[in-house]
Amino acid sequence: MKVITTPQEMQALAQTWRVDGLIVGLVPTMGWFHEGHLSLMRKAREITDKVIVSLFVNPMQFGPTEDLDNYPHDLERDRKLADAESVDVLYAPDASAMYPVEFKTSVHVHGLTSGLCGGDRPGHFDGVTTVVAKLFNQTLPHIAVFGEKDFQQLAVIRQMVRDLDFPIEIIGHPIVREESGLAMSSRNTYLKENEMEAALSLSKSIAHARMLVEKKETISPDQIKEEVRGIILQHSQCAIDYVEIVDQTSLQSCEQVTGESVLVLAVKINQRIRLIDNSTLIGN
Ligand code: PAF
Repeated sequence: MKVITTPQEMQALAQTWRVDGLIVGLVPTMGWFHEGHLSLMRKAREITDKVIVSLFVNPMQFGPTEDLDNYPHDLERDRKLADAESVDVLYAPDASAMYPVEFKTSVHVHGLTSGLCGGDRPGHFDGVTTVVAKLFNQTLPHIAVFGEKDFQQLAVIRQMVRDLDFPIEIIGHPIVREESGLAMSSRNTYLKENEMEAALSLSKSIAHARMLVEKKETISPDQIKEEVRGIILQHSQCAIDYVEIVDQTSLQSCEQVTGESVLVLAVKINQRIRLIDNSTLIGN
């Protein structure tokens, strides 16, 4: 596996692959790989000829009081893990290569970015869409694979790709969970032993919501949200940022539960660790 650190070298290599008729896949990440990331790499390996994994902890998507400085980072650890998944290139540019001093552009997707995580993290999605647009131009993929855990992010990126005519197929890959049900996340490393039960309330409340929908013929989104909130708030360490049931494309609140409805949650554990999770309420 090759490690590339400059946009110029990355773009030149991707260009030669495209000229050779190879299908190029990108898995964008901020590193500290866990099984969730590895499953995205395997998916890309399965459906493309050349797999690029980008590793860039993007300062533009962190707010001033967020965890940028403490975000877990170990290039050598991640290099070995990506290599073991037969990734072709680990693309790890540094911040000065991504955002030179004269950098002046940002990409903003209207509407979809204002609620949910966008409400709690102003500017976050502009950081995400700007860096993802840059990564697309630097790695020239035919296909990009994103995790469904960042549900709003995936909807925003799909919208950007449609609006800006990126000739890239976006694949969403299912959440990978610990045996306990906890959705895998690099931020789980911040959780202390005595915070685990509180963290598990997210996946437990999702399982409860799915059970309610299965058992009850008519149940409104408001009733489901109330029960979900009740389960989470049994833990004094939890503070809810949001519990919503939204349409998976428009991200607008649902008035009734359908196959398109997704329960989305963001919860802060002890005011330190912000966890997100989501699930459809009908089907898989
Ligand atoms: O999901 C992430 O890890 C990041 O938001 C992404 C897509 C790599 C952009 O920095």
